[in-house]
Parts: sequence; structure tokens; C-alpha cells
Amino acid sequence: MTERVIEVLAGTTGVVLAVADDGRLHQLGFGSGLAGRTPDFPVGIYPLAYPTFGEEPTREPALRITHADGATSTRLTFASAVVEAHEHGEVHRIALVDRVAPIGVDILLRTWPGYDLLETWVEVVNFGGEPVTLHEAAATAPAFAASSARLTHWGGGWAGEWSETTETLAHGTKVLASAGGVRPSLHLPPVVLLSPDGSATEESGSVGVCTLVWGGDARFAAEVAQHHQGRLIVGHQDRGAERHLDPDDRFETPHALWVWSEAGIGPTSRSLHRFAREQVVRGGTEIRATVANTWEAVGFALDDAGLAAQVDQAAAVGAELFLLDDGWFGSAHPRNDDTTSLGDWGVDRSKLPNGLQPLIDHTLAAGLRFGLWVEPEMVNPVSELYKAHPDWVIAESGRDRREERNQLVLDVLQPEVRRFAADVVSRVLADHPDISYLKWDANRDITEPGSTALAPDRQSHLPVDRVRATWDLMDDVARDHPDVELMLCASGGGRSDLGTLRWFHELWTSDNTDPVDRVRIQWGASHLLPASVVAAHVTHWGLRPVPFGCAVALSGRFGFDLDLVALSDEDRDVCAASAATYRRIRDLVQQGDLHRLASPVGTTRGAWAYRSADGDRAVVFAYRLPDDEPGNQVLALPWLAGKDLWAFDVEDLTPGRPSSAVAPLGAATLSWPDAAPPSASVWLITRR
Ligand code: DGJ
Repeated sequence: MTERVIEVLAGTTGVVLAVADDGRLHQLGFGSGLAGRTPDFPVGIYPLAYPTFGEEPTREPALRITHADGATSTRLTFASAVVEAHEHGEVHRIALVDRVAPIGVDILLRTWPGYDLLETWVEVVNFGGEPVTLHEAAATAPAFAASSARLTHWGGGWAGEWSETTETLAHGTKVLASAGGVRPSLHLPPVVLLSPDGSATEESGSVGVCTLVWGGDARFAAEVAQHHQGRLIVGHQDRGAERHLDPDDRFETPHALWVWSEAGIGPTSRSLHRFAREQVVRGGTEIRATVANTWEAVGFALDDAGLAAQVDQAAAVGAELFLLDDGWFGSAHPRNDDTTSLGDWGVDRSKLPNGLQPLIDHTLAAGLRFGLWVEPEMVNPVSELYKAHPDWVIAESGRDRREERNQLVLDVLQPEVRRFAADVVSRVLADHPDISYLKWDANRDITEPGSTALAPDRQSHLPVDRVRATWDLMDDVARDHPDVELMLCASGGGRSDLGTLRWFHELWTSDNTDPVDRVRIQWGASHLLPASVVAAHVTHWGLRPVPFGCAVALSGRFGFDLDLVALSDEDRDVCAASAATYRRIRDLVQQGDLHRLASPVGTTRGAWAYRSADGDRAVVFAYRLPDDEPGNQVLALPWLAGKDLWAFDVEDLTPGRPSSAVAPLGAATLSWPDAAPPSASVWLITRR
């Protein structure tokens, strides 16, 4: 066979594959600068493009199948390669087949050159006459030369989302995986940064970001084998999720996205953000409103007069949308805490005797939109729903139904359950047509993963099929209510992935709203998510000064989640001034290009900026965190180096500081805040 080279280029990101004499597919290169790459050695020397169990006995496989005859090894050889255009680039389908078994494996590569982004996934098809078992099938498994390679990843559980870890990969395999199925991103948002030579900084070095477009558990296995042979195998968590492929069944893995940069980490985030806004997030290029939520303000203690007072104060501080969180429903079992009522979505008349409408009317009259909290995938055993349909939950026959937060997970694989969940939303919206925003929450993991919708020998399909059924449910809701804005929440940031975000406009980043922790959380989240979806509310967590809380929230999707009635006049003024500031800068925060300036990870200072596409405006945020010592006061603004600085003005917009006059910028630097930490500065830089 003549050597065949397949070049797949998406701007700075690409992969070059080649077929060896024996038909195996190898990877000649992955990353940047690959145009025109040809083999320097016999193709068979290069790493396999998609390693299978049995092919490289000492290495991690990307694919493992038990064939119909019981054989467990798979050897893939090249069958065909076709390329088609799509609106933004090309789609390459490279078809491989096993040397013996009737199994096809297609590698799909969709290019998005406008975003330097490569989307990749795999489809496995059983074209034989007998069922086979698919144990593992990764979405992507590129090889890299790992000399001092470093991997950055995030996670930390509830209230610890987006804690950042960077580690040097040692010989062996480092596996990162999420678990629980419903809120996997609490533990591990599905994104990593890979710096093969370990040298990448924000502004320099070779680095790739990889995210799995998946709302269920994810698995990242970073392998360093002998002679620094590295490979990153990324896919859905396959443990407990074997697939049985009947004749003609095709399994499509979740998709992975890669962005590669030779100029450091910054460009990978900017590309991902633009892609997310323009191609993923609903209404991702629109400006989003300022939300005032009730959860941290009043919890379950709702009454008409108290809520109306909160609405009035929300209007007074300049919020644009009033969100009524948990606690408003449960006619048969009043929801005074989290022990009852999920599933019974009638208004709790003991709290709101005339229903929601008076509050909605009051809110609209005050000039705000109205939003409502729901948790449609869940049920409390103490509910009328559970009494009527105890078989509607995810459970295993003869096993205890373990509760978490006193609730069970509805089994949306059952068609009538999925219809019920969609109807929950439709009924609430039909009864209250003025609701224009929903917060969709999900507050427990899956235990005993069984479904009556799956045959006994297909129970292991649940982890994957439940994600897809939940996405179908979200799709139904989004399609039926195109004008209703949706916030994605799962005990905080449990669903921080670019798959689920396709049906949502923003997400609740973390229940941890202590602004000191939030500096690090929002820093971490910025490696995947554009700030337009990173909800950041001013609360009382951590009991920090309100101006500092406002300064931190201003760098995300600004909002409030605190008792606005009980605020001191001084703090209320700071909140109102901050909301006004946000209206001036939110086009930059929500739609601008992010430049991370100083990492708060392992340090006591963090800073970042958002810049308009034309470079004429930027907003800069700088935070000094507790224990920070006075020291170097210079905060460099690298994108301004070499520019005509006298063409720019700078204005201090720091919450709580008397407004300062506009002054010429004069230098490509600013000063860190003078005040004792926690302290912040917010500046607006504008071309004159
Ligand atoms: C968990 C969410 O993260 C919170 O913001 C709040 O909505 C509660 N659930 C309500 O139960």
C-alpha cells in the first residue's frame, strides 16, 4: 500500500495522520504548525492514531471490545477517508475496520478554523450478525512527546469547584474522572490543559486545551510511557457503562474539542470562549440581565410581603430580573426545608395564598423580569408524585433506594417520566406566562443505577443513555419555550460543560460565593467558560466587605443573592453603583476577549481584563486576597505594550471608592490596590 497522509487543519490546531504499509493508522503530528507534514521515518514507527486493546500491550487503549467470538483484541486497519464541507470548515470521516471481526470504527474530525478548534469523536459500528460488548471507546487519544509534560485540571467538590491543580506528568498513567452522573463538574469539570514540554505560560509556549462535550461522567487518562511517549485519552467514564452493540448498532462517543496554541494559554481560552458564545450557548452573543436571587437572601422562608420588599430593593439597586429560588411549591407538603415536595409543582398556598401572580405582577410593575427555580429531574419520597409513581425513579430492584438531600432521581429514560418533567416546566409557564427565566437545578448523584426502561442485560447503558435522555428533555423544554432564558445549576457548578450549555444561557458557577474563593473559582472557570455564562452574585458568604464582593461579581455575570432589605444604606449604595457600573462594562465582560494577568492560584493576588475586539476599550480587575503583603505594586497590561498609551484614558470604577476623574493612561501598567486585603480595583481603559 502506498503511504497515505491525511491532514486535518483547523487554524492553529490540527492533526496529521498516515496509513502504514500494513494498513494501520498512525499519527504524524498533533498540535500546531503541521501543514505539509510528511513522515520522516517509516509510518509504522509513529504512534497509533487510535490505540486498541491488544495492539500496544504495554500502553493504555482508547478502545476495548469483546467480539462475538470472545476475542478481546482489536486491530484496526484503514478502509476509507472522506471529507465533506460544513458551514464553518470540514468534516473528515476516516473509516477503520478490524482485521477479522465485523467491527467498524470511524474517526470523525470536524474543523472550525475560525476558532482554531478541532472537534473529534468516534463511532463504533457492529456490522456482524452477533452482539458484541464495547467496554471502552474514547473520543480522542492523541499522542505527544512528553518531556516534563504538565497537566492542569480543576475540581474540588461542592463549594470547591474549579480549584486548580497543575502537575508534572510522571511515568505511568494519571487518571482523572468525574462520578455520580448528574453533577460531575462539581468534582471535575471536563477540561484539561496540556503543556507537552511543561513550559507554557499565559502568553507563551505550546499548549492545548481539551474539553469533553458531555454532561455525564468524564475520564481523562494522561499516559507517559517509555521514551517520553505521551498520550491523552479522553472520553466518557466507561466504568460500569459497557455497551452491548446488537447487529447494525452504532455507538457515537461524546465529542471532544481541542484548541492548540503556540502562544500560551490565553489564546486557547479566547478561542473557546468565542466558540462557546457563537456556537454553543443559547443566545450567547446577547447581553445578559442582572439577576437578584432569593436563595441566599431568604431561603425557604417565603411570604408575599417579604418578597415584595425584596423586589422593591432589587429595583432600587438596579437589578433587572427577580429570581424566586427554592421553596415556592409543594401544596400537599409545604416545602419548608429540603425534605419534601420535589415533584409537586403546585404553588405552596400556605406561603403565597394567592399564588405567584401577585408577586409576578409586583415584579413587572417594579420594572424587573421574573424568574423561577425548578428541579424537574428529581422527586422527594415525601410527595404526592412519589406516592402515585414510586416506580418513576432510578433504582435497582430489591435494593435500597438511597436518598441524597432527601431526594431520588426521576428516571427520564421512561418516556412518561420525561413527558412529566417537560410538563412541569410547561405547566408552570402556561400558568404564569410572564415568567421569562428559569433556574434548572439538580441536587444529587446517582446511586443504584437501574432503569425499568432498559432490559436487564442493558442496565450498564444507563450512565450514557440517561445523559442523552436528559439532553432530550432539555431540548424539549428549550424548543417549547424558546423565549424563556435558562440558568443551568446542579448544586452549584455541577454541570459546567459545553454539551449541556447548548440549552442554557448561563450557569450557576458555584454555591461558594465567598468573593475571596470566587476569585480563584472564576479564574479556574475562565479556562473553559466565557464570563457571560459565569453567574457571579454578591452575597454574604465569607462576610467580606460588600464593595469587595461587588468588585468580584462584576467580573462575571453580575447579580445579587443577599437580603437587600437588611442591607445598610451604605452597602445598598455600593450595590446600586456597582449595578450601574456593570451596565457600562458588561459588553466587555460578557463579550470581550479575556486576558488573564496574574494568577491567584497559590498566590494572594489575581487580576484579569476583558478587551473589546477592536482593542479600544478594556476593563481590568485586580484583587488582593487575605494575607497578601504590600510589595510589588506594578500590574502589567501586556496587550498595551508598544501602543500609543497617550491615546488611552483610564477611569477608576472600583466599588465603594469615590468616583475618580478620567485620566490619561500614560503607562502599560496599573497599580495593585493600596488598601489592605481583601481589596480590589476595577478600571476602565478607553481609547480617546
Ligand atoms: C442548590 C443551588 O446551587 C442553590 O443555588 C439553590 O438553588 C439551592 N440548590 C436550592 O435548593
